[in-house]
Amino acid sequence: MDSSEFYGFCQSRSSVREYDDEPLTKEEIDYILSCAGSAPSAGNLEAWDVVVVTDEETRSALAEAAFSQVHVEHAPVIFVVCSNYVRSMSRYGERGILYGLEDATIACTYMMLAAHAKNLQSCWTGAFDDDDVREVLGLPPHIRPVSLLAVGKGHAPTQHTERMSIGEHVHRETW
Ligand SMILES: Cc1cc2nc3c(=O)[nH]c(=O)nc-3n(C[C@H](O)[C@H](O)[C@H](O)COP(=O)(O)O)c2cc1C
Repeated sequence: MDSSEFYGFCQSRSSVREYDDEPLTKEEIDYILSCAGSAPSAGNLEAWDVVVVTDEETRSALAEAAFSQVHVEHAPVIFVVCSNYVRSMSRYGERGILYGLEDATIACTYMMLAAHAKNLQSCWTGAFDDDDVREVLGLPPHIRPVSLLAVGKGHAPTQHTERMSIGEHVHRETW
């Protein structure tokens, strides 16, 4: 892939919240997970974990935990990407809280882009009640859910969401 193809790849991804009934194949799920495995992490500690949820009842419970966002129930797979604080804080103490969140966020970004590379649709879902997700999945106390990445087959939207101009983000040399 050259740089213009990479640019087009980034520009063509959109969040999609409606999916066909077709499940993901094992190969598609494994591809997404393998790509996440190559994500960078602080001190190479890989302070992230993921719960792969395909069970309908569990997806429904996760949708409830996500304030009734129906795409969480309808997507055939939810990758619940979590921060593992034991891994990051054992070396970095308090700073490890931030690193754990960053590691999980990067892993989820790789998963989202891996899904896009497979022509799958996805929606990063961050609005949920942490405790409810913990209860549904039986997460231990040192594991914090960071995102519910819904992935399924569907149609890319014809229009992409607007962005701020890049100049509004960028400060050169100093703020
Ligand atoms: C941290 C984060 C949390 C998000 N939470 C939600 C969510 O709870 N529900 C939802 O439908 N979309 C959610 N999104 C998707 C955003 O709404 C979406 O990425 C944004 O509007 C830009 O649109 P695009 O992804 O189509 O480019 C979230 C995205 C991020 C990165």
